[in-house]
Amino acid sequence: MAFGLTGCGSLTNGKRIIRISHAQSETHPEHLGLLAFKEYVEENLGDKYEVEIFPNELLGSAQKAIELTQTGAIDFVVAGTANLETFADVYEIFSMPYLFDSEEIYKSVMQDTDYMEKIYESTDDAGFRVVTWYNAGTRNFYAKTPIRTPDDLKGLKIRVQQSPASVAMVNAFGAAASPMGFGEVYTAIQQNVIDGAENNELALTNNKHGEVAKYYSYNKHQMVPDMLVGNLKFLEGLSPEEYQVFKDAAALSTEVEMAEWDKCVDEAKDIAQNQMGVEFIDVDVDAFKQKVLPLHEQMLKENPKIVDVYNHIQEINEKAKEAK
Ligand code: GCU
Repeated sequence: MAFGLTGCGSLTNGKRIIRISHAQSETHPEHLGLLAFKEYVEENLGDKYEVEIFPNELLGSAQKAIELTQTGAIDFVVAGTANLETFADVYEIFSMPYLFDSEEIYKSVMQDTDYMEKIYESTDDAGFRVVTWYNAGTRNFYAKTPIRTPDDLKGLKIRVQQSPASVAMVNAFGAAASPMGFGEVYTAIQQNVIDGAENNELALTNNKHGEVAKYYSYNKHQMVPDMLVGNLKFLEGLSPEEYQVFKDAAALSTEVEMAEWDKCVDEAKDIAQNQMGVEFIDVDVDAFKQKVLPLHEQMLKENPKIVDVYNHIQEINEKAKEAK
């Protein structure tokens, strides 16, 4: 491999190099969070560890980088839960459309670390474990033509993540789902292989999709988190004290990432609108929601692993409604 990965345990100047792969640019909140992770680990365990961050899918797409993390060729990867569905069924829950009633509820569920730990351990058999989560905002449709009502999706080819649940969702909306890796989306839109995609606002600027798709519609179908995933053998090989440093570094990276997120979204909207000529469209969210709500029951029936967490989230949705 071009980067000379020498497998687990590689040492430079007597230090163990920790490699982290992610798919975003260096200005993305996740990269900024990971810089805080690096700094914290090196401040506390710098005589032993050095952290190297590889952005922009340099080490491969999320799916490739997960495989590298599984084998221990690298130590950590940031991957959306859509990419984890094939390793643990429970992660399908986050692809369920309109699962959380608000971003506040979404964040409170994700920040409940005691609850999430159970989910984080669900990929142990696959050789990796989640150590923290990152906010990846709310996903919305964007395309070459304006999407104002669900009918406008009819006949459009829309890129989705390589997740069966997301494929089912986009098809239920009446579009034709086209699953592909994140890095392929720009060219696919540009060359009319697809008509659009769905993502948070940062995809317009950090990934330049706003250059090729000029209409972004706030239909708010999903909040899909990203996960910082670590090789299990590496994590288990740490002393309890070292493990704690890595966990604290991970929690700190989430704090930084979340604080940066809102700022970056505001900035992305400004750039998309004023420099790229993207039009932001407010839509009747309920009209979109009604199209895909039957998927809740269907997914719960087909995947018993998501039932507990679904009920947990519904309880929190209900409590928030009562408090109003
Ligand atoms: C977001 C998310 C990534 C994901 C990407 C995608 O950028 O943060 O983890 O891979 O969307 O749609 O593939």
